Amino acid sequence: QIVYLNGEFLPMMEAQVSTQDRGFLFGDGVYEVIPVYQRQLFCFKEHLQRLKNSLQATSIANPLTDQDWLQLLNDLIERHPWQDQFIYLQVTRGVQMQRDHLPADCLQPTIYAYTNPLQPVSDAVLTNGIKAITLEDIRWMRCDIKAITLLPNIMMKLAAKAQGADDAILLSLDGYVNEGTASNVFIVKDGYLITPPNGKRLLPGVTRLVIERIAMNKQIPFKEAQISEQELHQADEIWLSSSTKEALPVTQLDGKKVGTGKPGAIWHTMRDHYQQTKIA
Ligand code: PDD
Repeated sequence: QIVYLNGEFLPMMEAQVSTQDRGFLFGDGVYEVIPVYQRQLFCFKEHLQRLKNSLQATSIANPLTDQDWLQLLNDLIERHPWQDQFIYLQVTRGVQMQRDHLPADCLQPTIYAYTNPLQPVSDAVLTNGIKAITLEDIRWMRCDIKAITLLPNIMMKLAAKAQGADDAILLSLDGYVNEGTASNVFIVKDGYLITPPNGKRLLPGVTRLVIERIAMNKQIPFKEAQISEQELHQADEIWLSSSTKEALPVTQLDGKKVGTGKPGAIWHTMRDHYQQTKIA
């Protein structure tokens, strides 16, 4: 496996980053996960824009031009045989010898990217869906930034696993749905597809955006609205969306069936359209 590190392509085993990298010491960095279908980047523009937003929000200098980002990612894809891949791309603020929360001026960001084969979601999950629990969202107030600092997400994922669930749906203190631990959340109620509005409580997911566009084009009634805990529990369908999982049906929530307990009709329709969008 060949990875990209600071301008070079090299075998993964040979790629090395300083122990003084602020990404390692402070979690001071941002990232993207970009799917590749049939060797083509999917929604590159949207992912690049979000990367630039994350860099700008954290005052990390954008080290490359748009054209260079595109070239780098395509070079990485070229070097691997897999038709479908997902690229992990990370920019940290750089290496700093003196420990200081305040970053030194003129640091050189560390750029790292590697690609993996993108495995399709299993038939078992597509047939039966997944189990989720609700948890209080323990993260910070800038979840719109795709920060590498994922400790709370990991703790909540572990808590879900400890309760025998596959994932958690995160509720704000006031009892509204934010998102999943690594995904956005949709519900279907009375034929309406609903997702919480973008803001600082959740990541503006690219998959979420694709689903939203499909809903508009295919006349699936759709709205952005706050979803209360009660509305979540009374939903006909619940989905989680992300670049690596597309739309996943949640068929059990907090130990109770969601709708019929099987992936719902609107999810099936959306999945079919999504598959077509991927290769369009
Ligand atoms: N995570 N919300 C969070 C907290 C996420 O981490 C992700 C994606 C999403 C969905 O975003 P998108 O549709 O653009 O992938 C929402 C990636 C896949 C990850 O961390 O691996």
